[in-house]
Amino acid sequence: MTIKLFEPYEIKNTILKNRIVMSPMCMYSADEDGFVTSWHPTHYEARAVGQVGLVFLEATAVLPEGRISNNDLGIWQDAQIDGLKQLATSIQRHGAKAAIQLGHAGRKATVPGEIFAPSANAYNEESKIPTAMTKEKLTELVKAFKKAAYRADQAGFDIIEIHAAHGYLINEFLSPLANKRNDEYGGSVENRYRILKEVVDEVKSVWNKPLFVRISANDFTEEGMKPADYIPMAKWMKEQGVDLIDVSAGAVVPAKIDSYPGYQVPFSETIKNGADISTSAVGLITSGVQAEEILRNERADLVMLGRALLRNPYWPYQAAKELNTTIQAPKQYKRGWRM
Ligand code: FNR
Repeated sequence: MTIKLFEPYEIKNTILKNRIVMSPMCMYSADEDGFVTSWHPTHYEARAVGQVGLVFLEATAVLPEGRISNNDLGIWQDAQIDGLKQLATSIQRHGAKAAIQLGHAGRKATVPGEIFAPSANAYNEESKIPTAMTKEKLTELVKAFKKAAYRADQAGFDIIEIHAAHGYLINEFLSPLANKRNDEYGGSVENRYRILKEVVDEVKSVWNKPLFVRISANDFTEEGMKPADYIPMAKWMKEQGVDLIDVSAGAVVPAKIDSYPGYQVPFSETIKNGADISTSAVGLITSGVQAEEILRNERADLVMLGRALLRNPYWPYQAAKELNTTIQAPKQYKRGWRM
């Protein structure tokens, strides 16, 4: 029996050596100007040595006011390309592909100064009240994503993901819980999708490699978005040339989430089958058997791991052992041994 987890995966002329993806995770370790520090190469390269097929960099801000924290990585200026390029190269030299998640935190930004969102409603009582974005601000945002994509290309990344999940800016437009606008960017599904539509088109004008979009498929409230509500948007993304939807959930509003192993996998299935598009599943996926089940039953095309890879950068070796197979290892680890 072949193990699907370790089969290569081809997406738009890019071949991943296996289906294991490190989920984007903020490290809060950039300097105050969004530059890479010595933490990042150690952290990311370790997962590439661990045989992760696709290593995602954390949410990287397209504008300084779009940072979740003061120590987020940034890609809003050309000077940031160099450090990012070194990171991409350090991942790629171990045979992994390197991806970057481009984001803007919207009303969840915790940087000093003014913050921006679709509407002037705060996330919760402790958060700052954002300024509702004007048309000019929206144009600036779309341009910032385009420039960031161009820089990501210069830095040599293999894949870009647009962060449209977890209650950050684009998600705030998609969900009626945060989007209270009466102009063409609010109201109907088409209108709420408009900003993502523009961002995807602009990014694609400078980026020919695979493009992923991460969504929060469930707002976990009665009035919020449900997985099936994302099917029309997923179809539009497919029409626009988005290659894969990374199906996460939650965090648009502070709702209670009942999480358990694989709790977001059914959302991936809904989007995959409903829009006939490739998806990745994420959320409390911790074992090789669990990952294999998801792939074999076609519930997702890729599995993303977050905390399991923080606990163990060499998770793929452990999964291979669990699934009774052997995988490629760096030559340094192989002399006289089989992994
Ligand atoms: C995250 N997560 C996250 N998600 C995202 O889209 N962009 C990000 O920058 C971050 N940052 C982040 C930091 C840390 C420390 C953690 C633990 C998580 C969410 C992450 O990608 C993943 O979706 C969740 O952690 C669920 O997967 P696991 O951890 O259960 O495998």
